[in-house]
Amino acid sequence: MDIKWARENFSLLDGLVYYFNNASTSLKPDCVMEHVANLCKYHNGSFIGDYQNSDFVTDQIAECRSLVAKLIKCDADEVIFTSNCTDSLDRLAQIIGVKENDNVVCSIIDHNANFIPWKKRGANIYLLKTLENGTLDLAELEDFVKNNKVKIISLPAVSNTAGNIQPFKEIVEIGHRYGVQVCIDFAQYIPHRPVDFKGTDCDFCCFSAHKIGSTCFGVLVGKKNVLEHYREDFYVNNLKDFFAENGIPLKPVPSCFEFGSLQLSDIMALSHAIRFFGLVGYDNIKEQEDILKDYFLSKYERDGNMKILFPIQKENYIPIFTFRFTDESIDIVKMNKILLEKFNIVLSCSSQCAQPLYRHFGEKIGLRASFAYYNTKEEIDYFFNKLTLLKTEKLKLFQN
Ligand SMILES: Cc1ncc(COP(=O)(O)O)c(C=O)c1O
Repeated sequence: MDIKWARENFSLLDGLVYYFNNASTSLKPDCVMEHVANLCKYHNGSFIGDYQNSDFVTDQIAECRSLVAKLIKCDADEVIFTSNCTDSLDRLAQIIGVKENDNVVCSIIDHNANFIPWKKRGANIYLLKTLENGTLDLAELEDFVKNNKVKIISLPAVSNTAGNIQPFKEIVEIGHRYGVQVCIDFAQYIPHRPVDFKGTDCDFCCFSAHKIGSTCFGVLVGKKNVLEHYREDFYVNNLKDFFAENGIPLKPVPSCFEFGSLQLSDIMALSHAIRFFGLVGYDNIKEQEDILKDYFLSKYERDGNMKILFPIQKENYIPIFTFRFTDESIDIVKMNKILLEKFNIVLSCSSQCAQPLYRHFGEKIGLRASFAYYNTKEEIDYFFNKLTLLKTEKLKLFQN
């Protein structure tokens, strides 16, 4: 891929930032940044029905649904807009009516986003474990689903702390074999690999717009017939009396699951981000990110001072690396602060909302370097050089 061209589209990279925190949120290309600035400057339009702007707004919403549909191979009327991926999962819990003591299958590799919506409704969460190679244990999944009444299986295609691509198609097959609906969280997958909603056959899926170069915004997708089914249930269980009494019509799918005025600015930003993603192309993204993944791992192996915390499957992996130092006296919080303040290297230093995974491996926090297609081998060299410099010359600074 023409990396120079890609990087020229991100003014944020001009500031000599070494941005390795893409799993948290990705950089926005200039076309998205300019759109957000222009929209605030030139349009009052935020809402459907907003005097002259009404058609404009309606068209933008429809266009974004179509772009999402094209991006992930679903139908436009299967796309529900939400505030973020956590909100998408919360909306799902609301749509399918999760209640106390329902069983929901999640896993130790999940982000908290996939616990909160179920837990707050009193559901029992079954935490699926991983095999030694870091992939989810499908035999354990089948065993649980076979022997328990399960409301939904909700699992990530990729975790936010280890980049193994999970066998999500097989997960869907297992769920369906036992009549259980499945939601796949593509938040960490969609920035790196194309999603095929229809091909995957999951009942629901979700992702974050801000991880593909857009603003904080989210998408929930549901199979049309499944959404139609819940539309009635949702209406009867939640709204019927009041709606019937007051003559309020029930909207069609998908807008019956969207409440209030939609965030026009975020919707348009997502359209811009998807169009830009189309220019870059998933083949190019994969090609560049595979180079970065292999390069990081070869430097890591040569360096010998770091310990990647969670198992990785090198062949089926996207570039998310979580580590600490083999010398456990090195305080990674201090190290992270120095890397940021002195060298403009942006990592994540925390448990990345993935506490069950950390607990499972007896760890508390880690440094995470996560890459995108606009990162380069030179940036990885810079990172390892600074680490070496810090370790050899200034060890005192970040020891406990
Ligand atoms: C796999 C996964 N799911 C969900 C989320 C939550 O995303 P959002 O911030 O859009 O709610 C994240 C955030 O990092 C994530 O990595």
